[in-house]
Amino acid sequence: MAKHRLLFVCLGNICRSPMAEGVFRRVAEEEGVLERFEIDSAGMGDWHAGQAPDTRAQAAARNRGIDISGQSARQVTLADYARFDLLLAMDSSNYEELTQLAPKKARHKVRQFLDFAPGAGTRDVPDPFYGGSEGFDHALNLIEQAARGLLVELLNDEAKPIKKGA
Ligand code: 4NP
Repeated sequence: MAKHRLLFVCLGNICRSPMAEGVFRRVAEEEGVLERFEIDSAGMGDWHAGQAPDTRAQAAARNRGIDISGQSARQVTLADYARFDLLLAMDSSNYEELTQLAPKKARHKVRQFLDFAPGAGTRDVPDPFYGGSEGFDHALNLIEQAARGLLVELLNDEAKPIKKGA
């Protein structure tokens, strides 16, 4: 079976999307399905390219037993729209930008990550960059909900019978 290829996207690729990549990896690992996924993250901007995640994001993830220290920031490229099945935007601004840059036939691949967490009460993972550590914990709470929701949806889709003529 082909792998699900997921790209998590935020603004700088040093806070939210690296945490989302780490959390999704962990959730898929817990469910024993990690090998069915190709997972990466990227940022709309290139200011932090080559850098490891923000130390506050690393610490917040480490508190939940997740090591994201090995990740390296990079900017989204046009090739990502072909390479990935889903580009998961952390907030509406990332979503708008990702959609505007998307080749027409790949536009449907761009989604807001928190749409997979309908109980979260918001569609945006707030940018924690300019705040304290509590912002990183709040972001992680939202990210965990959406990661579980996304995993369930993708695995459910796999289990659906193929309709004749579809
Ligand atoms: P992120 O947070 O998009 O969650 O990685 C940010 C990191 C850096 C900047 C903005 C947001 N910045 O402006 O440098």
